[in-house]
Amino acid sequence: MKEIYKPLFEPFTLKNGVQLKNRIVMAPMTTFSANSDDTASDAELNYYAARSNGPGMVITACAYVQASGKGFEGQFAADRDSMIPSLRSVASSIKEKGAKAVLQLYHGGRLAVPHLIPNGETLSASSVAPRLDRGFYSIDKTPRSLSDEEVVELIKDFGEATRRAIEAGFDGVELHGATGYILQQFFSPHSNIRTDRWGGSLEKRLTFPLAVIEETKRVIAEHAKQPFIIGYRLTPEEPETPGITMTETFALLDALVEAKLDYIHMGVTDFWSKPRRGVDSKRSRMELIAEHVGNRVPIIGVGSIHTPDEAVQALEQTGIPLIALGRELIVEPEWVEKVKQGRENDIKTTVNPNDQARLQVPDPLWELMMSVEGWFPVEKK
Ligand SMILES: Cc1cc2nc3c(=O)[nH]c(=O)nc-3n(C[C@H](O)[C@H](O)[C@H](O)COP(=O)(O)O)c2cc1C
Repeated sequence: MKEIYKPLFEPFTLKNGVQLKNRIVMAPMTTFSANSDDTASDAELNYYAARSNGPGMVITACAYVQASGKGFEGQFAADRDSMIPSLRSVASSIKEKGAKAVLQLYHGGRLAVPHLIPNGETLSASSVAPRLDRGFYSIDKTPRSLSDEEVVELIKDFGEATRRAIEAGFDGVELHGATGYILQQFFSPHSNIRTDRWGGSLEKRLTFPLAVIEETKRVIAEHAKQPFIIGYRLTPEEPETPGITMTETFALLDALVEAKLDYIHMGVTDFWSKPRRGVDSKRSRMELIAEHVGNRVPIIGVGSIHTPDEAVQALEQTGIPLIALGRELIVEPEWVEKVKQGRENDIKTTVNPNDQARLQVPDPLWELMMSVEGWFPVEKK
């Protein structure tokens, strides 16, 4: 291994004592490939196994915690006990190859897909319509706002899914508070216009995410027999006004620090993206966030990192301890091994349309990779 890449291979110990063998994390990525009963398919298990040799930790695709929160075709489920064997097979496919396995827990809220959920009725903090256009699907349905009892039930369902993750043998869970899904919907002044205990001031908009964290921690304390990781993923800022600003992102980060998580994961597409408003805009969000959080809690950064030089630069310029790779690990499953063996020149950063079998990518994800413009760096046929 080249000397300059050594920082990527230093082990890292989380606050709960769990040791990651290196600084590379596989980012959570939905594969749209569950079986028709929402258990994980063999194709998805093979996809994880092919990528779990190298990274210290692998975060799974998001799994829904309640039927009303299903947000993707082919999303696997964590909402009932009958899913525990399926979850166990996902955890094993990762752990057997040596990485820590973290299950991402999710509820789509107003971004759930109407034809995949009971009565086609989307639910959220408030009845505010989203405007989502992902190219391959769009959602603009006005959701129904959750009653107080339903909010309490949803908090419990995040806890129940955590219990299932523990029983299935995962090393941890990550709460998906990013990309505009339900945890973000409650924190956002755009999508949360409630006036009860779950909305209003910034503090009240934090009540739901913090209650989910508290319930998750309670379940971990009750059921886990060994240290169990709890992480939280968030997206800084929203484009809307009103909407989450960088100032509000800092307040969320402070609240998450207080909640004593094992890590915070920033969910952005470009690691070096700049703030939209509200702060000194010459520096990247990641630099500002890393400076704000300091070493109070470990941060995972992500976004358009492809080469080991880019990964080292991201770590060193910001001082954060962990880097997640998403698309790059789909394109190059042996990324970590190649860097370790001094074969960094063999790392692929583009995808050949004839390579599906070698890359072990399930059909539905492969079809999207090949058809959605600009998502993956596809080589010309
Ligand atoms: C196919 C695909 C599926 C994704 N699914 C999820 C997901 O389930 N949960 C999540 O938090 N982020 C998801 N993301 C976002 C990635 O985790 C990551 O933040 C983003 O792709 C930027 O990192 P990258 O440039 O290394 O890919 C997904 C991204 C891709 C490409």
